[in-house]
Amino acid sequence: VQCYWQGVVKPIGVVRSIYKEKFGIPRQPGLVESARGVIELNDEPFLAQATKMLDQFTHLWVIFIFHRHDAKNWKPSIRPPRLGGARKVGVLASRSPHRPNPIGLSAVKLERIEQLGNQVKIHVSGLDILDGSPVLDIKPYLPYADSIPQASNGWAADPIPRKPVEFTEQALQDIADQETRSGQRGLQELITETVALDPRPTSQRRKLKADAPESVGTRYGFAIEGCDVKWEITSTGFRVLAVEELGPEGRPKS
Ligand SMILES: C[S@@+](CC[C@H](N)C(=O)[O-])C[C@H]1O[C@@H](n2cnc3c(N)ncnc32)[C@H](O)[C@@H]1O
Repeated sequence: VQCYWQGVVKPIGVVRSIYKEKFGIPRQPGLVESARGVIELNDEPFLAQATKMLDQFTHLWVIFIFHRHDAKNWKPSIRPPRLGGARKVGVLASRSPHRPNPIGLSAVKLERIEQLGNQVKIHVSGLDILDGSPVLDIKPYLPYADSIPQASNGWAADPIPRKPVEFTEQALQDIADQETRSGQRGLQELITETVALDPRPTSQRRKLKADAPESVGTRYGFAIEGCDVKWEITSTGFRVLAVEELGPEGRPKS
C-alpha cells in the first residue's frame, strides 16, 4: 500500500529539555509544573510565519517522537507504572512510550516565544519529554474542544501519589551555589516536585517499595538542570542529600 504521507512527515524542530536522561522524567505533562524546556524550531522562514498568533494561547499540544525507543519492541499489553507494574492493560489503552508508532502527545504551558531571524524558540513548562526529542507538530490547546470535564480517567483514576521531600543542609548549600553559578532560580522547587513523584523505574519501585522499612536508607541519583541529584528513601518520604554540578561529559565535577 502506498502511504501518501511517506516522506511528508518530517520533524519541524527539537525539544531542549531539562531531562537529559529517562530517569526522573515525569510520566505525564503538568505533574512537574516547573519542568522547563524550549522547542527549537528548524531555522526556516516558513516556520517563523507558521507560528504567527501562537502566542495568544496559554497551552500547546506537542506531538513528538519517542526517539529513545525501539518501536520494534512494542508489545500489545503493557504494565503501567500507575498500576505498580502488577496489572496489564492494552498498549492503546495506555500512554506508554512503547507503542506501534513511537509518537508522543503532551499538553504543555506556553511561557513565551522568542524569535531571532528565522529561528523560533518556544519556551514551555510542565514537560514530560526527553531532551533531543524530534517535534512533528505543535497545535494550540483549545479548552472549548480539548477540555472534557466529565471524561473518565479509566484505570488511571487513583490520585497521583506524592511523598514529602526534605533536604539536608549540604543539599541546600549545593542548590544555593548552583543558583549563583547559573543565575537561575527555582532549583529546589524543581527537585522537590520531581523527587516527590518517586522517579524510580517501575522495576525498582516494585523491588523496594517507598514505604517499606527495608527500603529506608537506599540511595539513588539522577541528572537534572546540569546537576547530579543524590537522594534517599526515609521512613516518612524522601531526603535529598546532595546536588552536584555535572561537567560537560555528564559526570559530577568534583
Ligand atoms: C508515559 S510517556 C507520556 C508522554 C506523552 N505525554 C504521551 O502521552 O504521549 C512519558 C515518559 O516517556 C518517556 N520519554 C519521554 N520522551 C522520550 C523519548 N524521546 N524517547 C523515549 N522515551 C521518552 C519518559 O520516560 C517519560 O516519563
